[in-house]
Amino acid sequence: MTVLDARAEHPVRLTLNGRERRASASPRRLLSDFLRHDLGATGTHVGCEHGVCGACTVQIDGVAQRACLTLAVQVDGREVRTVEGLAEGDAVLSDLQAAFKRHHALQCGFCTPGILMSCADWLSRIAGRGVPDEEQVREMLSGHLCRCTGYTPIVAAVMDVARARAAQGASHA
Ligand code: FES
Ligand code: FES
Repeated sequence: MTVLDARAEHPVRLTLNGRERRASASPRRLLSDFLRHDLGATGTHVGCEHGVCGACTVQIDGVAQRACLTLAVQVDGREVRTVEGLAEGDAVLSDLQAAFKRHHALQCGFCTPGILMSCADWLSRIAGRGVPDEEQVREMLSGHLCRCTGYTPIVAAVMDVARARAAQGASHA
């Protein structure tokens, strides 16, 4: 195991939303703070800061993870995707974001970036396995706390995308 000097800043090189970025961080700097304050990726939100609410969820090497439970130095050499990297370009929403918009799946929107990152990861994992049922979607969402939407529109949005992608997959089969 690499031991880092607690008083020193350490170089961190990562690919953030497809772009190479470099910065330095002390060993105790959280990835959530590093993304927001050092790299300007403020789409990642911080709620509880101890792994409960899911607001800070990002993808590390394609896997949804809590940025508040990850240290910045742990992403050295890895690929990080935040909500800013979900859409292709600034003006075009991804199918998932568009479905959230269509179903009014957000109110204050504070929890939304984390939920989107989990949903995006989960939808890509279940690709080719048919359409999930609502219970599976709710189970996937159980790692996220939303104070305003009651989850029903979020579930509807995710189901919509799952159905559309499955139909697309079937038509390409
Ligand atoms: S801020 Fe990370 S889980 Fe709540
Ligand atoms: S939309 Fe407000 S916390 Fe989820």
